[in-house]
Amino acid sequence: MNGCVRQCMRITGGVPLFGTVRASGSKNAALPIMAATILADGPVTLSRVPNLTDIDTLALLLGHLGLETKRDAAGRLRIATVDRGPTLANHELVGRMRASFCVLGPLLARRGRAIVSLPGGCAIGCRPVDLHLKGLAALGAEICIERGYIIARAERLRGARISLAGPHGPTVTGTANVMAAAALARGHTTITAAAREPEIVDLGRFLNALGAKIEGLGTSTIDVTGVEQLGGADYQVIPDRIETATLLIAAAMTRGSIQVTGVVPSHLTTVLRTLDAAGATLEVAPDRISLAMPENPRAFKAMARPYPRIPTDVQAQLMSLASLARGRSRLADHIFPERFQHVAELIRLGAVIERRGDRATVTGVDSLTGTEVTSSDLRACAALVLAGLAARGTTVVRGIDHLDRGYEQLDAKLNKLGARIERMTDNESAPCERRRPLACHSPVAA
Ligand code: EPZ
Repeated sequence: MNGCVRQCMRITGGVPLFGTVRASGSKNAALPIMAATILADGPVTLSRVPNLTDIDTLALLLGHLGLETKRDAAGRLRIATVDRGPTLANHELVGRMRASFCVLGPLLARRGRAIVSLPGGCAIGCRPVDLHLKGLAALGAEICIERGYIIARAERLRGARISLAGPHGPTVTGTANVMAAAALARGHTTITAAAREPEIVDLGRFLNALGAKIEGLGTSTIDVTGVEQLGGADYQVIPDRIETATLLIAAAMTRGSIQVTGVVPSHLTTVLRTLDAAGATLEVAPDRISLAMPENPRAFKAMARPYPRIPTDVQAQLMSLASLARGRSRLADHIFPERFQHVAELIRLGAVIERRGDRATVTGVDSLTGTEVTSSDLRACAALVLAGLAARGTTVVRGIDHLDRGYEQLDAKLNKLGARIERMTDNESAPCERRRPLACHSPVAA
């Protein structure tokens, strides 16, 4: 954010994207891994940690918790504990970035005590943490909630059998909190209905690099044999599968042809299957994915569910693609049924979308028309940028501080592929309507 003046993006649409771009490291892998460094009794060096405001926020919180974090000349993040005293994660930081809640399990396991603000809800729905607390209590933690803070204590956690099944499937960061805590618990822990996301596999592999004994990563049952101490490690974070999907959908929407390198295609199987169904031509190699979309996409179905199904973090971007698909596409979000704040803004760009509960039907149109839109959350913002790339004329996307939380220089990457995106402070972006009288193409019946 540029001081108190919010930034926005002005996008000149209709330009097909061509070229090659490299994916950044995964935000949702890096954040729980950074939180887990609280467990390490030695220095940790993390490579491929993206430069994002969410990463900066967590580094700030780790600083408050006695961990020094700094980037070296090669961009690697070096983290070392200098003080094990602090155990408070305050509301200002946890409220700013929900994933800060991932410090709870590591603090409890390594320091025996944690005072962490409840993270609160956000634009994609209420975000309970009951499963996190259930899992940590099963490991022997005494937990109470006072004035919006979780206060947790445990002399030494002890292994247990824990189910993390929730009403909408497993919990990703809940699995992170419990798995990280179990790494230092006495005895054996079995976590059933565990999250299978690649980001959780990456966290487990990082913990094992520190000396933990974790098996079953990537399955619904994770087995942890607690150890007495964890050392340091050098570790590279996996590529960001959500960013990769976002870039591929941008190319599909603009009927371009791009290659994304430095990726793990197997992390995106269901997304690639959906893009194929929409008519994209895909080429997959061990560390890269190429996509070409010679003509307007075909209608498709996309139901967001836990991994390995369609990620909820790609639902909004797929809805943008569906708005240009020939026919009626059907989307749903079974993880966050309220994650549809992007619908009203896409409709302002000319999309035809009917939402009912956790489902939406999108009737494709020949083209979208640029105007001003405002984003509410990270992935909704990405969806609106993609729609602006495809729309006729100019689109101004407001609230792009959301974007900078989770995408490393997305506008620069898209411009490298031929997009025409300018960053501006909000008061510079004269509203599109004021440039020309609105022609009323579809008069509303009196
Ligand atoms: C993680 O959030 C991701 N964030 C989210 O990405 C992602 O959308 C989400 O997982 C789902 O895949 C990070 O990894 C930092 P959950 P998380 O706990 O862990 C319910 C992005 O855009 N639930 O897996 O907070 C919950 O309400 C972000 O990068 C409970 O009922 O999500 C939801 O319906 C957005 N009780 C479902 O489970 C709990 O204790 C999945 O939530 C916890 C969750």
